[in-house]
Amino acid sequence: MPVPLNPQLDTLSDYPFESLRMLLNPVTPRTNDVPIAMSVGEPQHQPPALLTETLAKHAHEWNKYPLMQGTPELREACADWLTARYGLPAGSVHWERNVLTLAGTKEGLFMLAGLVVPRRKGGGPPIVLVPNPYYLAYNGAATMAGAEAVFLDATAANHFMPDLAMIPEATLERTALFYLCSPANPQGTVASLDYLKQAITLARRYNFVLAVDECYAEIYDAVKPAGALEACAALGEGFENVVVFHSLSKRSSAAGLRSGFVAGDPGLIGPFQHLRSYGGCQVPLPVQAAATALWRDEAHVVENRAKYRRKFDIAEATIAGRFGFYRPDGGFFLWLDVGDGEEAALRLWRDAAIRVLPGGYTARDGGSGVNPGQQYIRLAIVHDDPTLEDAFDRIRRVL
Ligand SMILES: Cc1ncc(COP(=O)(O)O)c(C=O)c1O
Repeated sequence: MPVPLNPQLDTLSDYPFESLRMLLNPVTPRTNDVPIAMSVGEPQHQPPALLTETLAKHAHEWNKYPLMQGTPELREACADWLTARYGLPAGSVHWERNVLTLAGTKEGLFMLAGLVVPRRKGGGPPIVLVPNPYYLAYNGAATMAGAEAVFLDATAANHFMPDLAMIPEATLERTALFYLCSPANPQGTVASLDYLKQAITLARRYNFVLAVDECYAEIYDAVKPAGALEACAALGEGFENVVVFHSLSKRSSAAGLRSGFVAGDPGLIGPFQHLRSYGGCQVPLPVQAAATALWRDEAHVVENRAKYRRKFDIAEATIAGRFGFYRPDGGFFLWLDVGDGEEAALRLWRDAAIRVLPGGYTARDGGSGVNPGQQYIRLAIVHDDPTLEDAFDRIRRVL
């Protein structure tokens, strides 16, 4: 007899890359073109040499158990970076009170729900608000923490950011946690400072946690995205009820380093540190040293951003005016309206050897009767320029 499993697992049937494999793997492309994977949001540039140089300098530290919460040097580098990046009042982010390092943000985003979802909230079962489309860790975290995930559609009609005014009062009362992503994966929308202030005000009024996933904050087009801690400062108060997540995966093209951090409300960071001492992932000391060096260096980030701008120039030159093309404010995805995302993904694979993600795989019908991603495909604009030129020529030919 099989051992009983946590029944909540049954709701985690949404791993997008498994669905993509099932859709595309039975199909062999009819073309000799070299396959191009635009389905995965993985940076294709190499990180700066600073990373490997610093790892080498700290090679004698692999024998040591690292501090779970991160070295003071790394936490200070994160605090200084936040302060400079968002123009925060000097001293308002303190490395010990406000910052915890993570082994990449995914595990921290997931574990946060275990920290802040109580058994009941507002007289009923707790709710976690999830933007729809969403990054899969949000839904996984909500579900495994025993909460009801309530999906907030982010569509063209609301400029791809959940409409805060449309969340019913009864839902807000039961809300324990709200995951927001800005710049958003997949649509690339950036929440304005005003929007963030409104979300923070709601979090405080209804006493829930606002977790803003800002891991694409350093890849932007014309305007530097505002951040949730900046919005807290603009409201003139502390960081109560708010945490932000930042990562080196995209900023420094170092997804393999597994390094990020969470920062914000000291009333959450302290208990988070306590919880993580039971089951968090420790980050090796050489990795923490490399992360410290990367957060203290901006030159490679400026270069990286310029490369992404060129990639979007290529996309714009080839497909502007089609598939509802718009140049995203941030992030490195294109979110194209192709009518039927699965059908377009199949056609692109079969006739052009290009893998893209059907938008419906990163969203769900949250009760409206419509999956808001269904008519879209998501393309990661991460390859070198000649590969992208080739890819967009094929896309134009086939779609
Ligand atoms: C929106 C979003 N948040 C968080 C992550 C996790 O990034 P990491 O764990 O590499 O920091 C990703 C990775 O793709 C992402 O797209």
